[in-house]
Amino acid sequence: MIEVKDLTKRYGERVAVDNISFSVKRGEILGFLGQNGAGKTTTMKILTCFMSANGGTASVAGFDVFENPFEVKKRIGYLPETPPVYPELLVSEYLGFIADLRAIPSSEKRKKIDAVVERCQLGGVRNRLIGNLSKGYRQRVGLAQALIHDPEVLVLDEPTVGLDPKQVTEARSLIKSFRSERTVIYSTHILSEVAATCDRIIVIDQGQIVAQEALNEMGSTGTTSRTEIVVQRRGDAVMKALTDLKGVKSAKFTTSTNNRILVEADAHEDLLAEMSKAVVTADAGLIRMSPVQHALEDYYLGLIGGGRIHDRS
Ligand SMILES: Nc1ncnc2c1ncn2[C@@H]1O[C@H](COP(=O)(O)OP(=O)(O)OP(=O)(O)O)[C@@H](O)[C@H]1O
Ligand SMILES: [Mg+2]
Repeated sequence: MIEVKDLTKRYGERVAVDNISFSVKRGEILGFLGQNGAGKTTTMKILTCFMSANGGTASVAGFDVFENPFEVKKRIGYLPETPPVYPELLVSEYLGFIADLRAIPSSEKRKKIDAVVERCQLGGVRNRLIGNLSKGYRQRVGLAQALIHDPEVLVLDEPTVGLDPKQVTEARSLIKSFRSERTVIYSTHILSEVAATCDRIIVIDQGQIVAQEALNEMGSTGTTSRTEIVVQRRGDAVMKALTDLKGVKSAKFTTSTNNRILVEADAHEDLLAEMSKAVVTADAGLIRMSPVQHALEDYYLGLIGGGRIHDRS
C-alpha cells in the first residue's frame, strides 16, 4: 500500500531523511519510532504530498506522491503534528468545511460527519468552539478531519502527544480499531505505545532506518516483556495456566517459597489481560501485576546509541 525507496530530503546542508526505504502492507499498523529530529515528520510530510524530496520515490496505493499528488491525497487522511484546526469555528462547522474540501457530496455529508463524531467521541463538543476545547479534544477533532473521507491510508504524526492517560488509552484503542480496515503509519517517541498498538515498527535515527521489525518477532531481538505477578496462593495450576498462554515464554516463582511469579512474554497489552485472567481462573488470588523492565526499551536505546540526545536542530 505504501512503498518508499531511497527517499532523501535535505534542508540546505542538513540531511533530514537519508536514503530510506520501507513498505507498508494493506491493513498494517506501522509505528514510526524515533527521537526528536529523527526525520519522522519530514517523511510523513513527503508521503502526504506536503513536501518534495531531493531523491528517491514514494507511492501510496500505487500512485506516485510526486507525480500524482491529487490521487494520493484523496486516499490519505493526515493528522499533522499540530492539528490543522480553526479555533474560531465550531466543531460541527469545521467538520462541514473539511467535508466540503474533500468534495463529499452534500447528500452524504451529514452521515460522514456523524460517523467521525461518533468514532472520535466528539458528540459532547459538537457545538463548541474549537478554540475553547482542551488539547485532547482538539487532537480528536484533528483525527476526525483525517478520517472524514474514509481514507484507505492514515498518517498520524504523534497522535497521542499531550493527551492525558485516559485519552491516550482511548486514542490507542481507536487506532487499533483501524487494524485490517486501513493502513496506518503512526509516529511516536513512546516505546510502550508502539508495543501496544502496532503490528510492526520502524526505528529511525538521524534520518536513517536502524531497524524494521514485526513486533511479534522481536522477542528474539530483545523485546520480551517481564511481568511480576504476586498471588495469594502458590500452586501448579496457576503456572500451567500462565505457561499455556500463547506468547508466554516462561513463568516461574522467583524463589521456592514466595508468591511472586516472574513471567517472560511477548510485549503485548492483550497478553497482560490474558495473564490476569489466567491467574484469576486458576484461583491463585491475584494481588498485583507489574512490569519488571521493558526489554524493548533496552533494545531501542541500543539502536539509537544509548539514548543520547542529538537533535541536530
Ligand atoms: N523546515 C525545516 N528547515 C530546516 N530544517 C528542518 C526543517 N524541518 C525539520 N528540519 C530538521 O530536519 C530534521 C528532522 O526533523 P523532523 O521534524 O522530521 O524530525 P521528527 O522525527 O519529526 O522529530 P520530532 O520527534 O521532534 O517531531 C531535524 O534535524 C530538524 O531540525
Ligand atoms: Mg515530528
